Amino acid sequence: MPFDVVCDGQNCRAFAIRFQGRAHAYVNRCTHIAMEMDYRPNRFFDDSGRWLLCATHGATYAPHTGECAGGPGRGPLVKIELTESGGVVYWRPSPRVKPLEF
Ligand code: FES
Repeated sequence: MPFDVVCDGQNCRAFAIRFQGRAHAYVNRCTHIAMEMDYRPNRFFDDSGRWLLCATHGATYAPHTGECAGGPGRGPLVKIELTESGGVVYWRPSPRVKPLEF
């Protein structure tokens, strides 16, 4: 599920995934080079379904933490805190990630 945020002052895409029953969300920006990671729109998992995969050079990230697990990534993805209530998922702004201003 894609959505838009402002991260570190720049408009960015973000995405939410469900992994092992829990929702997680990250800024869609690889830590190797600041590029969006999906190899097809909204496709983030590798073939095993265990890792988030950057399509450009193959960095892998843990779906539940965003930690880099392999490849040329340079640290964790920017995680966006979520809460889930009544089947609806809400994201919470943080010092680094804020809503878009219209
Ligand atoms: S840009 Fe993601 S691995 Fe290089």
